[in-house]
Amino acid sequence: MQLLKAALSQLSALAGVWLALRGWPGVFDPRWAPVLQAAGAALLSRLLRQPLWWLPIHLSFFPAVLFAIGLQLPAWAYLGAGLLMALVFWGTVGGDVPLFLSSPAVAAALQEIAVQERAESFIDLGAGVASVAAPLAAAMPGLQVTALERAPLPYLLARWRCRNLTNAAVAGGSFWDCNLGRFDLVFAFLSPAVMPRLGRKLEREMRPGSLFVSSSFPLPGWPLSAEIRLADRRGTRLYCYRIGDQRCQANAGLPG
Ligand SMILES: C[S@@+](CC[C@H](N)C(=O)[O-])C[C@H]1O[C@@H](n2cnc3c(N)ncnc32)[C@H](O)[C@@H]1O
Repeated sequence: MQLLKAALSQLSALAGVWLALRGWPGVFDPRWAPVLQAAGAALLSRLLRQPLWWLPIHLSFFPAVLFAIGLQLPAWAYLGAGLLMALVFWGTVGGDVPLFLSSPAVAAALQEIAVQERAESFIDLGAGVASVAAPLAAAMPGLQVTALERAPLPYLLARWRCRNLTNAAVAGGSFWDCNLGRFDLVFAFLSPAVMPRLGRKLEREMRPGSLFVSSSFPLPGWPLSAEIRLADRRGTRLYCYRIGDQRCQANAGLPG
């Protein structure tokens, strides 16, 4: 849906600038066309209620296209760059979740949580390049770590990073198709767009008493068991939710 809105914003702004140039030549200098297109696309994106983080994308997209065309590279180079982007950002194309990597502080905090929880199984929903799964599996040989990633290139990198970790399994595919009932600790670093749907999935599938930890994006309407603020560059917040059991919620004992 967001991609559709983005395409609509870009194409409408492009059409508007083109029509203005054709209809009223001389009203503005054609050299301003990229700036006007970018501003128009950003404005339309706001009118279509796209999240704020789309603004820099809209402002830079058309100027970046013109810049790339200006480089006059052979056609295969553009095709190759497009394919590479698709392989890395497949999760964004298919579901509003871009690739950002968690800091080592997130992996360290999850290790502490896993110890406190006496967790035996852990899954990272959308594991990227295993920035969390690999260090966690290396630090806790007794923990069964699953890294689930849909985008082909990050998946391959995650597999390579975990190749010597016997307690880590890297799986390709969508977490929407994975039942979460067998995990003690579930982690996700996704985007606000998917959190309501993810909440419904967690409610259906996770065992009472198990713990869900979301990096940066809270589950709307869910009572928090704990919120952990990390001193990494992003000032990451980890939102912890005890599933179901209210007694466990009161006794979570996680650092606040
Ligand atoms: C913000 S990154 C987080 C990466 C990693 N968990 C970390 O903390 O460093 C989100 C990842 O989720 C992946 N992703 C998005 N939707 C997915 C889905 N439905 N199934 C599996 N992976 C998905 C994206 O490809 C991306 O790599």
